[in-house]
Formats: sequence, structure tokens, C-alpha cells
Amino acid sequence: MPISGDIYRRIGRAAAGAVSVVAVGDGRSEAVMALTVSSFVTLSFDPPLVMFAIQHAADSFASMVESKAFGVSLLRAEQTGIAQRFACKGRDKTANAVFDWGERLGVPLIPEALAQIECLTNQIFMSGDHAIVVGLVEGARTRDGQPLLYYARQYGSFSAIGRA
Ligand SMILES: Cc1cc2nc3c(=O)[nH]c(=O)nc-3n(C[C@H](O)[C@H](O)[C@H](O)COP(=O)(O)O)c2cc1C
Repeated sequence: MPISGDIYRRIGRAAAGAVSVVAVGDGRSEAVMALTVSSFVTLSFDPPLVMFAIQHAADSFASMVESKAFGVSLLRAEQTGIAQRFACKGRDKTANAVFDWGERLGVPLIPEALAQIECLTNQIFMSGDHAIVVGLVEGARTRDGQPLLYYARQYGSFSAIGRA
């Protein structure tokens, strides 16, 4: 028998994650759709695949699962405001936003992000009330800095306590 929603939410609060913005659209022929996610992970080294999960209820759901390509930007600790902005609903959140445009695929990316990743949409798996979107990495750029993390409904930064 499945667990209660309350216990499931507590598991979610116990799981810390890095914060990213996923975005689609080329900024010319179509509007940009973007949302904040903590479900981004690297998936496969060869071929280079990454993935994230998106809820069916997201306004950007259709755009993401039908996309040919998408951009992922891993946010830096100083980019809390960007995370909050793209965790909101409404077209306004992208209307006046400033994006970098990927050199390989032309996807929208967050300026100064810790990593900017350009992906071809590779596979979509419907799973519960989310879809898992897998991307083949066609281009990427990384910068030095500290990641923005999310834990127990709060943003924070990384503090090392030992080597893995
Ligand atoms: C830190 C954080 C992480 C999130 N992670 C995800 C996620 O992995 N997948 C998801 O679908 N929504 C996630 N969300 C919620 C979406 O950002 C939020 O529902 C947003 O309003 C969706 O935008 P849209 O409706 O314009 O598509 C997260 C929100 C926050 C604040």
C-alpha cells in the first residue's frame, strides 16, 4: 500500500538538490517557456545524457515534452532571485528576462550560470504525474562558483565537510 501524501512530502523536504532553470524556445519564432527545477541530474557519460522531471501541471509541460531542444542552466548561489522568478507561473516571468542563446542549438540559457547546457531532446518517459525528459548534450559551458541548493523549502549554498 502506498505511503500517505504527508510522508511523501516529508521525503521531498529531506532531499536536498541543486537548482537549475530549464528553458525552451528560440526567442524569435516562439515565446520562451522556462521553469525552476531541482530534478536535473547527469545520467549517462557515453553518450552524454542528462535528465529532469516535469510535472503535468506545469504550464511549460507541453512545450518541454514537445521540444526538439532545451537549455539547462545550473544556478550559482547568488542567483536565488532567478530561481524564485522561474518557479512562479505566468508569461511575465520570461517576457523581460535576459537570456544567453546557445551557440550550438540556440536554446535559452541563464547568463552567468554555473553551467549552461544545450540538449537535443532524446527521450520522454511518462511516469506518474511527471514526465522524465532525457537530453543529449550537444554543447556546454561551465564557470567556477558555488551552486545554489534547495533543502527543506529553503535556498542555501554548499559547505564541504570532507572528501568523497
Ligand atoms: C527549488 C524548486 C525546485 C523545483 N523543481 C521542480 C522540478 O524538478 N520539476 C517540476 O516540474 N517543478 C519543479 N518546481 C516547481 C516549478 O518551478 C513551478 O511549478 C513553476 O511554477 C512551473 O512553471 P510553469 O507552470 O510556468 O511551467 C520547483 C520549484 C522550486 C522552487
